[in-house]
Amino acid sequence: MRLHSSLATPAQSRAQADAGRLETSIGRLRLKNPVIAAAAEHLIEPAGIRAAIAAGAGAVVVKSTNESQAAKDQLARAEYVALDANWKPVPWGASAPPEVTLATRSGLYPGDFESWLAQAVAMDAEARAEDCLLVASLILSGLDASLEMARRVEAAGLRALEFNIGTPYASQAAKGAVSTELDPKRVHELVRAMRGATSLPLWVKLTGQSERVPELAEAAIEAGADAVTMAGRLLGMVPDLDSMAPVLGTSLGIGGFWNLPLTCHWLALSRARLGPEAGLIGINGARDGHDVARMILAGAAAVGIASPVMLRGAGVLRQAVAELDAYLAAKGLTVAQLRGRAADARRGFADMPPLDENWRRYITKDSTP
Ligand SMILES: Cc1cc2nc3c(=O)[nH]c(=O)nc-3n(C[C@H](O)[C@H](O)[C@H](O)COP(=O)(O)O)c2cc1C
Repeated sequence: MRLHSSLATPAQSRAQADAGRLETSIGRLRLKNPVIAAAAEHLIEPAGIRAAIAAGAGAVVVKSTNESQAAKDQLARAEYVALDANWKPVPWGASAPPEVTLATRSGLYPGDFESWLAQAVAMDAEARAEDCLLVASLILSGLDASLEMARRVEAAGLRALEFNIGTPYASQAAKGAVSTELDPKRVHELVRAMRGATSLPLWVKLTGQSERVPELAEAAIEAGADAVTMAGRLLGMVPDLDSMAPVLGTSLGIGGFWNLPLTCHWLALSRARLGPEAGLIGINGARDGHDVARMILAGAAAVGIASPVMLRGAGVLRQAVAELDAYLAAKGLTVAQLRGRAADARRGFADMPPLDENWRRYITKDSTP
């Protein structure tokens, strides 16, 4: 309950200010905080979704579905590995080092659309009780099927939809199972069609496998997306020295803390291109509340965390919210006041002052020739 400031005690006023510090808006949606539990296997079943809601996430994006049987079948073949900085597998779990790289061949929600939708509706009721936004998630296979599923998501009373058109796997998975859209024109067409099918708040998740992420974002926003989620993971391959074969047999979706600078770069360029009000959601490489703050500084209104939660548990989300809150409190800022500061402070290389042979300080002086 909001107290009128003249009636509130100083402690109550402080509590009110504290409560508002983490609030954020993405287009017409308000979130209680900007930490989003992003889709991966831990959000396939109710237990994982409940854990994310209970951990205090501002939003939970449930595991994606589509109509492709091949995409569902892929889940049965999915494998996951956590690699340390020497590319050696480490045990899966909270003891994995923070600099871990996660490599995966994931698939989609294994059940049919009806069970996925029924579960999402049940989880939405639980999310509402905690002021958490439950977001439905569709991955493009065939456009007509996506549009029909989106209509049903809206008719079922869900409150927001993420439309992922940028998975890393399209070139590797069975033909048509998932999509990696790289052409702004095509993004525009897809999003316009989706905008015509649903009036729900629409987040479009874009690929990071492009040098044109800001153009893709612009196309999605111009076509009516409320926000863009940037950017999907990359494909990579890790040769194993013993077997001399690729780790897990093939190219994989890869991610890790090292992707954070790339995400922040895309966020900053997109903010410069689309303006400070554009709905930007950061994803890919955030591990904790400080990483969430970094992506907000780069322009994100909210930030998804997926694989660290799958690896270490929902406590990652709880801690991220607390860390972000402590950081904001120490700086005396709200999320809205933090947003985009680093992006707006970005300068061009040529704007930097000349230095006196600075480069010499960065070369190793080898004594032997
Ligand atoms: C095992 C696994 C499964 C994923 N499944 C989905 C999915 O169903 N839908 C989706 O939009 N993104 C999916 N993602 C992508 C994540 O939501 C997120 O974009 C990506 O992992 C980068 O964020 P992170 O660094 O926080 O993990 C998946 C990622 C992983 C690792």
